[in-house]
Amino acid sequence: MRGFLEQYVRLDITTRGDVLEALHAIRPEWTINAAAMTDVDACERDPEGAWGVNVEGVRHLATGCERCASKFLQLSTDYVFDGTSGPYAEDQEPHPVNVYGRTKLESEKLLDHMALEYSIVRTALLYGSVATARANFVQGVCSALARGEAVHAATNLYGNPTLVDDLADGIVIALRKEVRGILHLAGSEWLSRYDFAMKIARTFGLNEDLIMPVSFQELNLHAPRPLRAGLGTDRAKRKFGIAFAAVEEGLRRMMTQHDEFSKR
Ligand SMILES: NC(=O)c1ccc[n+]([C@@H]2O[C@H](COP(=O)([O-])OP(=O)(O)OC[C@H]3O[C@@H](n4cnc5c(N)ncnc54)[C@H](OP(=O)(O)O)[C@@H]3O)[C@@H](O)[C@H]2O)c1
Repeated sequence: MRGFLEQYVRLDITTRGDVLEALHAIRPEWTINAAAMTDVDACERDPEGAWGVNVEGVRHLATGCERCASKFLQLSTDYVFDGTSGPYAEDQEPHPVNVYGRTKLESEKLLDHMALEYSIVRTALLYGSVATARANFVQGVCSALARGEAVHAATNLYGNPTLVDDLADGIVIALRKEVRGILHLAGSEWLSRYDFAMKIARTFGLNEDLIMPVSFQELNLHAPRPLRAGLGTDRAKRKFGIAFAAVEEGLRRMMTQHDEFSKR
């Protein structure tokens, strides 16, 4: 595998010509797509916008990869499942319940029709201390508790929290081992948002009394969610030796990174 690219090109993946031109110029060995419209409620309100980025954008990237013989890795989600019986294995039938999930599933399916070597890495509920990214669940809970605000956390919404550093390491292993098809990479614990919020409060030494158990329905969010989603990771563990941290260990690693960032 060649070294990772250090060149930075700003690109809107919905603009086909720009995507094709950039890939033609760079001719990467691997192309990893982490770009997506990920706000689940915004996707529900703007299905055309979601389709443009999550499906057409991926088609443009895959077409560019096809033309320059780049291998392609697409990031996907546990939200391709309906959440009636998670955590899900790679070979279980997807059945998304919202626009976000439907567009992500479509992006997976379109790759099947291309003359392309590809991997699909599905992940779930990402967290970590990446200062430049949008705030994740852990950062949201910590900020609210630090301000003395209540956090309403759903007791019936499940998934496996995944430390982004683990995901990045898992992707590098998947690339090196030339994994093909679908691979689930997600944290080793499957729990409700309420239990996750409680672990966050305890690990960061914040006030857990401010965490209020509610049902997902009480949160009144716009888009439906797959309630018992999450991913089974047996293939990653058994076949490729990729193991992910449990929640408390992941949170402790995140806390150490946060301290290191603050000192800079
Ligand atoms: N976060 C999770 O819990 C989670 C769970 C499962 C799967 N995933 C998957 O993991 C991947 C990364 O998610 P994330 O959490 O990192 O999402 P994110 O924080 O919302 O980041 C998405 C990135 O995509 C970029 N983007 C959006 N529209 C674009 C466009 N038209 N052209 C180019 N770039 C565009 C955004 O750029 P701007 O900031 O400039 O808009 C942003 O940098 C996605 O495929 C997502 O479906 C995420």
